[in-house]
Amino acid sequence: MSAEVIYGSELSQQLKDEMKNEVAEIKKQGVTPNLTVILVGDDPASRSYVRGKQKASDYIGIESNLIELSSETSQNELLKLITQLNNDPNVHGILVQLPLPDHINEQSVIEAISPDKDVDGFHPVNIGRMMTGQDTFFPCTPYGIIQMLKSKNIPIEGKHAVVIGRSNIVGKPVGQLLLKENATVTYCHSRTKNMEQFIATADILIVAVGIPHFIDGTHIKPGAVVIDVGVNRIEDGSLTGDVEFASAKQKASYITPVPKGVGPMTITMLMGNTIKSAKNNL
Ligand code: GUN
Repeated sequence: MSAEVIYGSELSQQLKDEMKNEVAEIKKQGVTPNLTVILVGDDPASRSYVRGKQKASDYIGIESNLIELSSETSQNELLKLITQLNNDPNVHGILVQLPLPDHINEQSVIEAISPDKDVDGFHPVNIGRMMTGQDTFFPCTPYGIIQMLKSKNIPIEGKHAVVIGRSNIVGKPVGQLLLKENATVTYCHSRTKNMEQFIATADILIVAVGIPHFIDGTHIKPGAVVIDVGVNRIEDGSLTGDVEFASAKQKASYITPVPKGVGPMTITMLMGNTIKSAKNNL
């Protein structure tokens, strides 16, 4: 078998075109969706992600503000700025680019953002809403993965979904969203024993560990759907996933590539959350 490749880049483009029309309609009703991004310090990777967010906003017609702060900014200054943005009716989405400098407590910052403007879906209130099956801002990468599965009409209900990785940003929430779609979910992580036995029974395998080629085709169940969330820069400067693509593709029915797979969906879902927030203000 050779799997069909699911290109998040293509789905992303399609969704962004739909969003462009949606934003034009919202603007006719007098509201311009606004995403305000705060970047503290000058980490090159963060700067590049932020540029991607601005580019997508421009394309769709979302107003984007970038607030750049020096790496010496105190936690109090940052919290004060967030309060101002929480109270600004023209701001619909607030995103503080992570990671933050060591002297700033990330969790305090995440919790300072109003849950109604938390387009990252990181606030404990929004995580709680997600876990209790309510509609809210879902974390962007996990939500993007669900959209990729749905775009190919891949059944989720009753399937065994195995999530490798338990980060707050990807692993934990993607398991919750799969559960919401009625999958049977298993989480594997660095302390899991005999991980192969779980991989071998996964109908849907989500790999989000950040280790190049952590998984290859050996234990993958024939016909499984393999979603690779890894974005790892290797020695030659190229990007590679957590899955060894060529051997996994021989076993899977669907597989996502790196790059052009899950990555582009994250920003697109962020745009979707910003639009959703603006619509709540109509
Ligand atoms: N840094 C890396 N990914 C993300 C993300 O999705 N949101 C934020 N705020 N920071 C990030």
